[in-house]
Amino acid sequence: MDFVYDVPASRVVFGAGRIQQVPDEVERLGAQRVLLIAGGRQKKYADELATALGSRVVDRIGEVVMHVPVTLATAASERTEQSGADLLVCLGGGSAIGLAKAVALRTRLPILAVPTTYAGSEMTPIWGLTDGGRKTTGRDSTVRPATVVYDPALTTSLPPDMSAASGMNALAHLIEGLYAPDASPVTAVLAEEGIRALADALPRVVVAPGDLDARTDALYGAWLAGWVVGTAAMGLHHKICHVLGGAYDLPHAGTHSAVLPFVTAYNAPAVPAAMARAARALGAQDPARALWELAERIGAPTSLAQVGFDPGRIHEAARLVVETPPVNPHPIDEAAIQELLRGADAGLIPGAQGHVAQPL
Ligand SMILES: NC(=O)c1ccc[n+]([C@@H]2O[C@H](COP(=O)([O-])OP(=O)(O)OC[C@H]3O[C@@H](n4cnc5c(N)ncnc54)[C@H](O)[C@@H]3O)[C@@H](O)[C@H]2O)c1
Repeated sequence: MDFVYDVPASRVVFGAGRIQQVPDEVERLGAQRVLLIAGGRQKKYADELATALGSRVVDRIGEVVMHVPVTLATAASERTEQSGADLLVCLGGGSAIGLAKAVALRTRLPILAVPTTYAGSEMTPIWGLTDGGRKTTGRDSTVRPATVVYDPALTTSLPPDMSAASGMNALAHLIEGLYAPDASPVTAVLAEEGIRALADALPRVVVAPGDLDARTDALYGAWLAGWVVGTAAMGLHHKICHVLGGAYDLPHAGTHSAVLPFVTAYNAPAVPAAMARAARALGAQDPARALWELAERIGAPTSLAQVGFDPGRIHEAARLVVETPPVNPHPIDEAAIQELLRGADAGLIPGAQGHVAQPL
């Protein structure tokens, strides 16, 4: 065993109804002037939060766009500076949290995050910005939220298809955490627990979106996924998804869902111990196949075609992936990525021994 454990702390407050604790948490951070960021679909929750925070809210930003366009980030930062805010409170999915991070990157303000999807951004120091079809990501400890309030009740309104795709996004963090080069033994334990929690909860969530127990279990898994992705380096899977999301504007969570089984199959021969953990957590022999079957069962995308990917872009996408290659347990080259993308595009069931030629 050989590792470095270096995990900065975030304060995490978790449980149904915990949204009501946000004013106390704002006070705990010593903030007087809050800038509230929440997209249009979260307006109801954001209005309630604004009422609870009262005169402490000095401005609100309601325009949130996936993958955080630079122009939006610049406008939001300028508005924040003009408001004199001393804390950013963001409520929503990865896009709302991503905008808060982009603002924090420039203003150095702390963030209190209230996540409403399973994307996991709230637990990471990772920021992302998109400019001219290219997504750039980086790590900066300033953008890691100081406090995260997880309230499963807020996730009951997330529609089943979006819950399913978002859950697969969280599973991707956990799977890649199992073989990350900088993972510690704690990462592996938490990743396995997160996979188990999500694999158990997601089928229940999509059948009964209002089931608070299922939502609580899924959000617990998503918290672990956020913790894992925030502490361990990501590999080929995340690189492919960032390229596809940034270059072709594909939906973030659905793309993760479509790609994950194929990267898992690709990397499986190189990481037997990680795959043993994943198999145990998924209750299956072959993690790649089990992930594909879970996605299909819960109604998440199982092919890139389903999320609108143009197969004519496979060569270009593969080139972009290897241009700045990720650290990955299995060596990568352009031809291998092209083949992987062809499999993911067609939605062939992946197996540890390679793709099984079984069209949907
Ligand atoms: N930096 C990181 O560590 C990190 C990690 C994961 C994701 N991300 C980023 O986050 C973005 C994707 O986040 P996402 O998948 O959460 O998507 P999102 O935030 O865009 O949300 C998807 C849709 O769901 C709606 N929504 C969210 N919560 C809802 C709820 N409870 N009820 C009803 N509707 C709801 C949103 O309004 C939006 O229309 C991408 O830009 C991705 O790159 C960043």
